[in-house]
Amino acid sequence: MSKRRLGPCITFFPQPTTLVASRAADGRVNVMTASWVGLVSKTPPTLGVSLHHGRLTYAQITASGSFTVNLVPVPLAVAADYCGLVSGRDQDKAAVAGLTLVPADLVAAPLVAEAPLNVECRLAGEVELGDYRLLLGEIVQIHALEKAFRADGTLDAAILNPLVYLGGIREYWSLGERKGVAYKDGKALLR
Ligand SMILES: Cc1cc2nc3c(=O)[nH]c(=O)nc-3n(C[C@H](O)[C@H](O)[C@H](O)COP(=O)(O)O)c2cc1C
Repeated sequence: MSKRRLGPCITFFPQPTTLVASRAADGRVNVMTASWVGLVSKTPPTLGVSLHHGRLTYAQITASGSFTVNLVPVPLAVAADYCGLVSGRDQDKAAVAGLTLVPADLVAAPLVAEAPLNVECRLAGEVELGDYRLLLGEIVQIHALEKAFRADGTLDAAILNPLVYLGGIREYWSLGERKGVAYKDGKALLR
Protein backbone atom coordinates (compact mmCIF):
# COMPACT_ATOMS: atom_id res chain seq x y z
CA MET A 1 0.00 0.00 0.00
CA SER A 2 1.61 3.25 -1.11
CA LYS A 3 1.27 6.07 1.44
CA ARG A 4 2.07 9.76 1.61
CA ARG A 5 3.91 10.98 4.72
CA LEU A 6 2.14 13.96 6.30
CA GLY A 7 4.68 14.69 9.03
CA PRO A 8 3.66 16.01 12.45
CA CYS A 9 0.14 17.41 12.01
CA ILE A 10 -3.44 16.91 13.22
CA THR A 11 -4.90 14.82 10.40
CA PHE A 12 -6.69 12.14 12.40
CA PHE A 13 -10.32 11.14 12.49
CA PRO A 14 -13.18 10.53 13.10
CA GLN A 15 -13.98 12.70 16.10
CA PRO A 16 -17.30 13.60 17.69
CA THR A 17 -18.73 17.06 17.17
CA THR A 18 -19.76 18.43 20.56
CA LEU A 19 -20.85 21.65 22.17
CA VAL A 20 -19.06 22.32 25.44
CA ALA A 21 -21.17 24.52 27.69
CA SER A 22 -19.92 26.48 30.68
CA ARG A 23 -21.13 29.12 33.14
CA ALA A 24 -19.16 32.13 34.34
CA ALA A 25 -19.19 33.31 37.95
CA ASP A 26 -21.52 36.18 36.93
CA GLY A 27 -24.01 33.64 35.54
CA ARG A 28 -23.27 34.17 31.84
CA VAL A 29 -23.37 30.96 29.85
CA ASN A 30 -21.42 30.04 26.74
CA VAL A 31 -21.24 27.22 24.23
CA MET A 32 -18.26 26.31 22.06
CA THR A 33 -17.74 23.58 19.51
CA ALA A 34 -15.12 20.99 20.45
CA SER A 35 -14.07 17.85 18.62
CA TRP A 36 -10.99 17.01 20.67
CA VAL A 37 -13.15 15.15 23.12
CA GLY A 38 -13.01 11.55 24.27
CA LEU A 39 -13.42 9.11 27.11
CA VAL A 40 -10.19 8.63 29.06
CA SER A 41 -11.26 6.50 32.05
CA LYS A 42 -14.09 4.20 33.07
CA THR A 43 -13.46 4.20 36.84
CA PRO A 44 -14.19 6.96 37.57
CA PRO A 45 -15.97 7.73 34.30
CA THR A 46 -13.94 10.60 32.85
CA LEU A 47 -13.93 12.66 29.65
CA GLY A 48 -10.94 14.55 28.32
CA VAL A 49 -11.54 17.82 26.44
CA SER A 50 -8.59 19.65 24.91
CA LEU A 51 -9.00 23.42 24.74
CA HIS A 52 -6.76 26.25 23.60
CA HIS A 53 -5.94 28.32 26.68
CA GLY A 54 -7.32 31.46 24.98
CA ARG A 55 -10.91 30.19 24.69
CA LEU A 56 -13.57 31.89 26.80
CA THR A 57 -14.74 28.36 27.53
CA TYR A 58 -11.36 27.47 29.09
CA ALA A 59 -11.52 30.52 31.36
CA GLN A 60 -15.09 29.75 32.44
CA ILE A 61 -14.46 26.06 33.12
CA THR A 62 -11.34 26.62 35.18
CA ALA A 63 -13.06 29.38 37.18
CA SER A 64 -16.29 27.45 37.79
CA GLY A 65 -15.03 23.86 38.04
CA SER A 66 -17.62 22.28 35.74
CA PHE A 67 -18.70 21.86 32.13
CA THR A 68 -21.09 19.86 30.03
CA VAL A 69 -20.38 18.06 26.76
CA ASN A 70 -23.36 17.98 24.43
CA LEU A 71 -23.44 15.70 21.39
CA VAL A 72 -24.25 17.55 18.17
CA PRO A 73 -26.81 15.80 15.94
CA VAL A 74 -26.57 16.14 12.13
CA PRO A 75 -29.39 18.75 11.85
CA LEU A 76 -27.40 21.09 14.12
CA ALA A 77 -24.31 21.17 11.85
CA VAL A 78 -24.61 24.83 10.89
CA ALA A 79 -25.28 25.92 14.48
CA ALA A 80 -22.29 23.93 15.71
CA ASP A 81 -19.98 25.25 13.02
CA TYR A 82 -21.00 28.79 13.96
CA CYS A 83 -20.24 28.08 17.64
CA GLY A 84 -16.75 27.05 16.51
CA LEU A 85 -16.14 30.20 14.50
CA VAL A 86 -17.12 32.89 17.00
CA SER A 87 -16.14 33.52 20.63
CA GLY A 88 -18.66 34.03 23.37
CA ARG A 89 -16.65 37.16 24.19
CA ASP A 90 -18.17 38.71 21.04
CA GLN A 91 -21.63 37.18 20.65
CA ASP A 92 -24.31 35.36 22.61
CA LYS A 93 -23.83 32.20 20.54
CA ALA A 94 -26.66 30.15 22.01
CA ALA A 95 -29.14 32.93 21.23
CA VAL A 96 -27.86 33.45 17.67
CA ALA A 97 -27.77 29.69 16.93
CA GLY A 98 -31.21 29.09 18.45
CA LEU A 99 -29.90 26.71 21.12
CA THR A 100 -31.85 26.23 24.34
CA LEU A 101 -29.75 26.12 27.51
CA VAL A 102 -31.36 24.34 30.46
CA PRO A 103 -30.08 23.60 33.99
CA ALA A 104 -28.03 20.48 34.60
CA ASP A 105 -28.77 18.12 37.51
CA LEU A 106 -25.48 18.34 39.38
CA VAL A 107 -23.22 21.02 37.89
CA ALA A 108 -23.46 24.78 37.32
CA ALA A 109 -22.81 24.54 33.58
CA PRO A 110 -26.00 24.28 31.48
CA LEU A 111 -27.14 21.57 29.07
CA VAL A 112 -27.99 22.10 25.40
CA ALA A 113 -31.60 20.88 25.18
CA GLU A 114 -31.38 20.10 21.44
CA ALA A 115 -28.47 17.66 21.94
CA PRO A 116 -29.53 13.99 22.14
CA LEU A 117 -26.82 13.22 24.72
CA ASN A 118 -25.62 15.55 27.48
CA VAL A 119 -22.71 14.73 29.77
CA GLU A 120 -22.29 16.61 33.05
CA CYS A 121 -18.67 16.86 34.19
CA ARG A 122 -16.86 18.14 37.26
CA LEU A 123 -13.38 19.41 36.47
CA ALA A 124 -11.00 16.81 37.87
CA GLY A 125 -7.63 17.82 36.45
CA GLU A 126 -5.71 19.70 33.82
CA VAL A 127 -2.69 18.80 31.70
CA GLU A 128 -0.74 21.55 29.92
CA LEU A 129 0.15 20.65 26.31
CA GLY A 130 1.75 23.66 24.63
CA ASP A 131 -1.04 26.12 23.82
CA TYR A 132 -3.68 23.54 24.72
CA ARG A 133 -5.01 22.30 28.04
CA LEU A 134 -6.38 18.80 28.38
CA LEU A 135 -9.22 19.23 30.85
CA LEU A 136 -10.30 16.07 32.63
CA GLY A 137 -13.94 15.98 33.60
CA GLU A 138 -15.37 13.38 35.93
CA ILE A 139 -18.74 12.37 34.53
CA VAL A 140 -21.42 12.83 37.18
CA GLN A 141 -24.55 12.51 35.05
CA ILE A 142 -25.58 11.66 31.48
CA HIS A 143 -28.90 12.50 29.85
CA ALA A 144 -29.82 10.41 26.78
CA LEU A 145 -32.77 11.06 24.49
CA GLU A 146 -35.68 8.93 25.67
CA LYS A 147 -36.90 8.06 22.17
CA ALA A 148 -33.45 6.69 21.22
CA PHE A 149 -33.87 3.71 23.58
CA ARG A 150 -34.89 0.37 22.07
CA ALA A 151 -37.20 -1.96 23.98
CA ASP A 152 -34.16 -3.90 25.30
CA GLY A 153 -32.70 -0.73 26.85
CA THR A 154 -29.87 -0.25 24.34
CA LEU A 155 -29.40 3.02 22.46
CA ASP A 156 -30.16 3.34 18.75
CA ALA A 157 -27.27 5.33 17.26
CA ALA A 158 -29.30 6.14 14.14
CA ILE A 159 -31.76 8.14 16.26
CA LEU A 160 -28.98 9.94 18.14
CA ASN A 161 -27.62 10.75 14.63
CA PRO A 162 -24.28 12.25 15.75
CA LEU A 163 -22.39 14.66 13.51
CA VAL A 164 -18.95 13.23 12.87
CA TYR A 165 -15.98 15.57 12.41
CA LEU A 166 -13.00 14.65 10.25
CA GLY A 167 -10.12 16.59 11.79
CA GLY A 168 -7.41 17.72 9.43
CA ILE A 169 -9.70 17.80 6.39
CA ARG A 170 -12.41 19.96 7.99
CA GLU A 171 -15.45 17.94 6.92
CA TYR A 172 -18.63 16.92 8.70
CA TRP A 173 -20.15 13.51 8.02
CA SER A 174 -22.99 11.42 9.35
CA LEU A 175 -22.53 7.92 10.77
CA GLY A 176 -23.52 5.60 7.92
CA GLU A 177 -24.46 1.99 8.61
CA ARG A 178 -23.71 -0.33 11.50
CA LYS A 179 -20.89 -2.64 10.45
CA GLY A 180 -20.49 -4.95 13.41
CA VAL A 181 -20.80 -5.68 17.11
CA ALA A 182 -17.90 -4.82 19.43
CA TYR A 183 -16.38 -7.44 21.77
CA LYS A 184 -18.19 -10.11 19.74
CA ASP A 185 -17.24 -10.14 16.07
CA GLY A 186 -13.54 -10.61 16.85
CA LYS A 187 -14.34 -13.90 18.60
CA ALA A 188 -14.45 -15.44 15.15
CA LEU A 189 -10.62 -15.35 15.25
CA LEU A 190 -10.19 -16.68 18.79
CA ARG A 191 -7.99 -19.81 18.93
C1 LIG B 1 -15.55 21.44 14.24
C2 LIG B 1 -14.77 22.28 15.23
C3 LIG B 1 -14.13 21.66 16.27
C4 LIG B 1 -13.39 22.42 17.21
N1 LIG B 1 -12.77 21.76 18.23
C5 LIG B 1 -12.05 22.48 19.12
C6 LIG B 1 -11.41 21.82 20.21
O1 LIG B 1 -11.55 20.60 20.41
N2 LIG B 1 -10.65 22.58 21.06
C7 LIG B 1 -10.51 23.93 20.91
O2 LIG B 1 -9.82 24.57 21.72
N3 LIG B 1 -11.15 24.59 19.89
C8 LIG B 1 -11.92 23.91 19.03
N4 LIG B 1 -12.59 24.55 18.02
C9 LIG B 1 -12.50 26.02 17.94
C10 LIG B 1 -13.43 26.73 18.97
O3 LIG B 1 -14.73 26.18 18.94
C11 LIG B 1 -13.49 28.24 18.65
O4 LIG B 1 -12.21 28.81 18.81
C12 LIG B 1 -14.52 28.99 19.48
O5 LIG B 1 -14.72 30.25 18.87
C13 LIG B 1 -14.14 29.20 20.94
O6 LIG B 1 -15.24 29.77 21.59
P1 LIG B 1 -15.19 30.51 23.00
O7 LIG B 1 -14.10 31.59 22.95
O8 LIG B 1 -16.57 31.09 23.12
O9 LIG B 1 -14.88 29.49 24.05
C14 LIG B 1 -13.33 23.83 17.09
C15 LIG B 1 -14.02 24.45 16.03
C16 LIG B 1 -14.74 23.69 15.12
C17 LIG B 1 -15.47 24.37 13.99
